[in-house]
Amino acid sequence: MSRWYESSTVYQIYPMSFKDTTGNGIGDIKGIIEKLPYLESLGVDILWLSPLYVSPMDDNGYDIEDYEAINPLFGTMDDFKMLLHQAHARKMKIIMDLVINHTSDEHVYFKQARLAKNNPYHDYYIWRDPVNGGPPNDQQSVFSGPAWTFDERTQQYYFHLFSTRQPDLNWDNPKLKAALYAMINRWLDLGIDGFRLDVIDLIGKDVDAKRLGCGPYLDERLNELYERCFKDKGLFIVGETPTFGIEEANRFTALKRPILDMVFHFQHVGLDERPGEGKWALKPLDPEALKTVLFKWQLGLQEDGWNSLYWSNHDQPRAVSRFGCESTYREQSAKMLAGVLHGMRGTPFIYQGEELGLTNSKMTNLEDYRDLETLNVYKELKSKGWDEATIMEAIKAKSRDNVRTPMPWSSQPYSGFSTVKPWLKTHPKYQEINVEEALSDTQSVWYFYRDLIALRKKEAALARGRFEVLSSAPQVIAYTRTEGLETITVIGNLTHQAQPSISVKGTMLLTNYKPNARAKMLRPYEIKIIKTTGEDAYGNH
Ligand code: GLC
Repeated sequence: MSRWYESSTVYQIYPMSFKDTTGNGIGDIKGIIEKLPYLESLGVDILWLSPLYVSPMDDNGYDIEDYEAINPLFGTMDDFKMLLHQAHARKMKIIMDLVINHTSDEHVYFKQARLAKNNPYHDYYIWRDPVNGGPPNDQQSVFSGPAWTFDERTQQYYFHLFSTRQPDLNWDNPKLKAALYAMINRWLDLGIDGFRLDVIDLIGKDVDAKRLGCGPYLDERLNELYERCFKDKGLFIVGETPTFGIEEANRFTALKRPILDMVFHFQHVGLDERPGEGKWALKPLDPEALKTVLFKWQLGLQEDGWNSLYWSNHDQPRAVSRFGCESTYREQSAKMLAGVLHGMRGTPFIYQGEELGLTNSKMTNLEDYRDLETLNVYKELKSKGWDEATIMEAIKAKSRDNVRTPMPWSSQPYSGFSTVKPWLKTHPKYQEINVEEALSDTQSVWYFYRDLIALRKKEAALARGRFEVLSSAPQVIAYTRTEGLETITVIGNLTHQAQPSISVKGTMLLTNYKPNARAKMLRPYEIKIIKTTGEDAYGNH
């Protein structure tokens, strides 16, 4: 038994910011269709689309008003079917984002639910009576402020772990579950190839006990979802699971019963925050800590589980800005990070623009930000007494808008994304970093990504080889992947200083400097990917 996607690479599209064809400053489905040849030339196999459903866009589509209709901002259902058809014709799969922990407050279920306590939809959401005139507990939401909001009409509190406009669904209700399963199966019947399940670790929660991630009902609910919707259909299902550790990841991705094909854990994206103080309390990244986390997951899921491999997405800072270098070594560090990630065991994900080595957009004026999380946290941190400069520094490092600026296609006005002013400012460096530029230079980050994607298809050791740690200097990451008689060694310098290298016999498959396999030192952010066949890679006999 093996996993059909072991040699695949996923590309995430954030539709609002990918390509605008209608001239309204917002990306759309026709824009994705227009860029399919671009994606095909990069070599990616699976496209993950952030939500396209009808939504008031309070959280850019992660607040769904109608699961079964396409947001007119993005196009029509016919456009979507055309996209699916054309992607399939090019041998690319399409997976949709699916948000079933909560809906928008504009969803008809919630509109009904809040009409009256005895409305049949009331129990589709999580309601509690006031306790001593206040909320049932002090649970805080992810987007600042309490997770309980009082509803005048019903005189009850509803639960929302995200914004007040994203009420959480009540997974205790069989009718709600049946409705969701039917909806999911209708999308699958349409021919889509899978889903990315938004914060799916939350659906097993017990709000009264304040057990949210990995809650007491998670196994039972995910099992049922799998049985009723996903099982034996050859789909691609990735769960976003911020609270998962290795134990849960193994349990849900086990090959004999892959309830989820893979999960997004969050351990490497929490390393630059002060423990317990949340994502805005910045702390410098320690490359050694990063290496430790990556190795732990590689080894931890080796026997039975499967990893997702990612540096960034629509919620997380740009890879080079966070783990590499934005200035002098931007291209070298982008390639090193790409090589280190794509060399590991698991399925790599590329977030749009990552293949250009794009940096955080770091907008300096608060008025230019659009993300509700950023706007809310600004107020929250102000009220906590943080000074303006520290808040803006945190926002420039962590705001989700850093990665949501329009995709830079060229050095044309509005970065070739649109003919009009886009919904979010264009990237400040688009004249230097854009697709046209990248394609015109065979040494660019883009070609390095293309080569890595191709390598995973060609080299069985990369696709499914066994992972082993190679001992190295503390700030150097080194490991091998072995399948049969073939070993691929990956050695990456995680810093801007020279670091001791490791001598390996074999053929250099990919590197980001002029090759010198036997050099004693690694240059800043240098990466080497070396293949050895049928002999001992380290010269030991
Ligand atoms: C996930 C999404 C994020 C969204 C949140 C609430 O974390 O990735 O963008 O805001 O869920 O739906």
